[in-house]
Amino acid sequence: MKLFLDTANIQEIRLGARLGVISGVTTNPSLAAKEGIGGREGYKAAVHEIADIIDGPISVEVVSQDAAGMIAEGRDIAEWVPNPWVKIPSTAAGFEAIAALARDGIKINQTLCFSVNQALLGAQAGSTVVSPFVGRLDDIGQDGMALVADIANVYQRHNIKTMVMAASVRHPRHCILAAQAGAHISTIPYTVLMQMVQHPLTDSGVARFLQDWQKAGNRQ
Ligand code: G3P
Repeated sequence: MKLFLDTANIQEIRLGARLGVISGVTTNPSLAAKEGIGGREGYKAAVHEIADIIDGPISVEVVSQDAAGMIAEGRDIAEWVPNPWVKIPSTAAGFEAIAALARDGIKINQTLCFSVNQALLGAQAGSTVVSPFVGRLDDIGQDGMALVADIANVYQRHNIKTMVMAASVRHPRHCILAAQAGAHISTIPYTVLMQMVQHPLTDSGVARFLQDWQKAGNRQ
């Protein structure tokens, strides 16, 4: 399972990239707005900057609600960076846009997926990857990770090539469960990435090795 960063914060992307464990970035209008990124040109400039840091797919979301608007936006976004994945919502207009853009050879991240049926429709339309929103399902008392597992299972059973990306990830345990459920990718906030690194026994172990080394008369 690959890890993507789910953020539009350039500093977080720089720091995450340094670890050598990040294969892509996902953004959305909320994440862009949170960073004060405004307007299409502002979003485009930020996505350029991200692509200079990360040598992998960058997901950029459309904001149109109708199929024609999504298709026009998607074709434009597809020219922004070398490896764009256009994020299209799991709506009727979205499936129409996915089908049209996929026919053009444009890679699609089918977003806001909350059911296996939506994932099946996206696969037929030509989604490159589908993004079930785990945390938002958990928030309403449902089992978000069960959806990831169900989609992965059905795709595997029918030899569907669309990948599964666990999204709306809220904590490190979600990453473990997504990997166990068969997700190909987890897109995670920077805070979750840093939580994945941490273990108190690693920290105390490092301190103790150094202490013992110095006790034996060595300098660092
Ligand atoms: O990848 C989708 C993600 O950005 C949504 O996360 O935390 O807003 O549900 P969240």
